[in-house]
Amino acid sequence: MKWPGGKYRLVTRICKQLDHGKRLVEPFAGSAAVFLNTNYNRYLLADSNPDLINLYRQLQTEGDSFIEFCRDFFSAKKNNEKSFYEYRSDFNHTDDIRLKSALFVYLNRHCYNGLCRYNAKGEFNTPFGRHHRPYFPGKEMQHFFYSASKAEFIHARFSDTMRRVQEGDVVYCDPPYTPLSETAYFTDYFSGGFNWDDQIELAEWAGKLVRRGIQVVISNHNTKSTRDLYQGAGARMKKFKVRRTISCDAENREMVSELLAVFQPV
Ligand SMILES: C[S@@+](CC[C@H](N)C(=O)[O-])C[C@H]1O[C@@H](n2cnc3c(N)ncnc32)[C@H](O)[C@@H]1O
Repeated sequence: MKWPGGKYRLVTRICKQLDHGKRLVEPFAGSAAVFLNTNYNRYLLADSNPDLINLYRQLQTEGDSFIEFCRDFFSAKKNNEKSFYEYRSDFNHTDDIRLKSALFVYLNRHCYNGLCRYNAKGEFNTPFGRHHRPYFPGKEMQHFFYSASKAEFIHARFSDTMRRVQEGDVVYCDPPYTPLSETAYFTDYFSGGFNWDDQIELAEWAGKLVRRGIQVVISNHNTKSTRDLYQGAGARMKKFKVRRTISCDAENREMVSELLAVFQPV
């Protein structure tokens, strides 16, 4: 999936910081870039987006026939405004999880900028993206299916996932970013439903788990607030620059400073 905050370009750097362990836990799975690029014996992958978790479960249980079902939606005939809005409406009204999951893949690749946005009624409302030839991620879905035999997927808020962490686990957290500007939280525009109190609660969880001997690594923007928060909770910092699309304009890429807060058991 194209996913805001996806970590494909940072995977090598993130993995360098992760200890070996019996199981990797990702409370903010998103497009699951770290899962797809590591080799733990087992995984617990969680996210608060039910559509994403239903898609992963559908792919995990059904494999090839589901991939072929999804592929059918990726024809030139279905890449137009009329089809897009019909499929978007079907997605918002169907109770059929298999169909809804396939339409989620279609919408993700045909909508504007891969944005996953819902209105107050919980309906997907990102507009049509006018992509020339949307890419069907068949190979990526195959790879996901093979790896998924080692994974459990749960729809959960991060605190519920943290409660399930056991001895021998390693935890990688990729919460929605804090805004780069310190005042942006006041507008609530950037928080995406994940506010500063949530960031504090997450850092507290990391502190609790590291005291139980469990390694936790958290990604975020490198700002004074995030550094203070994680240092205060006992983490050491890794900082690096990464090129990232910050505005809605895909051409507009800037260097952004990223942070990995490593909570290392002694
Ligand atoms: C930055 S993205 C994760 C990106 C992911 N690492 C990747 O490579 O694609 C953050 C994810 O957290 C999820 N999320 C937001 N609030 C959450 C919460 N309170 N608990 C759990 N997941 C949450 C979002 O649905 C989103 O998928």
